[in-house]
Amino acid sequence: MKDALILGIESSCDETSCSIVKNGTTELATIISSQIDIHKDYGGVVPEIASREHVKNITIVLEECLTEAKVTMDDIDAIAITYGPGLIGSLLIGLEAAKTLAFIHNKPLIPVHHIAGHIYANNLVRPLTFPLIALVVSGGHTELIYMKENYSFEKLGGTKDDAVGECYDKVARVLDIPYPGGPLLDKMAHEGNATYDLPTPLNDDSYDFSFSGLKSAVINLVHNEQQRGNTIRKEDLAASFQKVVVDVITKKTIRALNNYQVKNLIVAGGVAANRGLRESLTTECQKEGIDLTFPPMKYCTDNAAMIATAGFYAYQKGDRADLSLNAKSSVPLS
Ligand code: KG4
Ligand code: ZN
Repeated sequence: MKDALILGIESSCDETSCSIVKNGTTELATIISSQIDIHKDYGGVVPEIASREHVKNITIVLEECLTEAKVTMDDIDAIAITYGPGLIGSLLIGLEAAKTLAFIHNKPLIPVHHIAGHIYANNLVRPLTFPLIALVVSGGHTELIYMKENYSFEKLGGTKDDAVGECYDKVARVLDIPYPGGPLLDKMAHEGNATYDLPTPLNDDSYDFSFSGLKSAVINLVHNEQQRGNTIRKEDLAASFQKVVVDVITKKTIRALNNYQVKNLIVAGGVAANRGLRESLTTECQKEGIDLTFPPMKYCTDNAAMIATAGFYAYQKGDRADLSLNAKSSVPLS
């Protein structure tokens, strides 16, 4: 089979990224321009600022990517673009860039769902083995997905309210940890002990999750302690919060694997970087004889390498979009 070079473009939130991946496995170049330092001052991503930054960055990131990969647009076989879900203004910048390139250079346009991208980041570690279950844990998603084969997605369950990363960021905020709070809260959790008593959310037989009650429990606890003039032991509270989150996610994931008789687990999304979750899943998967893959640390959060990788399989499957493709802020994966 002839090699296929896919150019991936990702701009769904606050990272502008382009990447070129060969045959869904070999990365030639990936450039990521992050806006975290800009949004930090506001305690979260400001959509209007994010869109404007994407406008400033997109052509520079694209040029750098082509230069680093030592290829021209003539060498590219198809353009894979995140069309959703995400911030609509941010998505539109990447999408317009992709459509323009596809039109000028006469290349196929491949629409890629952002979560399919996160899942396929694991393919850059080693080829996915099927059937598998993907645990998707990010700032916008908490889902268990069953994949019978390449590019087939069946949702088993998901969050009823907040996504797990969102919950991390909101809990971090009440503890005065700067945005994005997830990574720092994870670090603090390893420096403390789980001494605070917090409720386990949606501790039932479903594959669904719920994090808003837990978030409120932490926020109320902090406010009550402050009103009483008590000092919060932040590291202990972080450890207590992380333990509840990790335990419930691990338990439901292992149950899904056993019930569906699946021996392969992959983890996807920003929270796949979480040390507590990595440790807990590694231990439990070893016990159960389950093959576990995490994405490379640098590709847990948003990047275009994962979009180019997913794009290769969508391309092989025959997925194509025309220039009427629109961005979607909310769209299911399956
Ligand atoms: O996948 P991602 O870049 O964006 C979405 O598609 O949502 O994930 C970002 C999320 C943020 O909420 C961030 O706080 C969280 O992932 N995150 C973490 C860790 N690293 C990133 N949450 C917990 N522990 C971490 N180590
Ligand atoms: Zn993401």
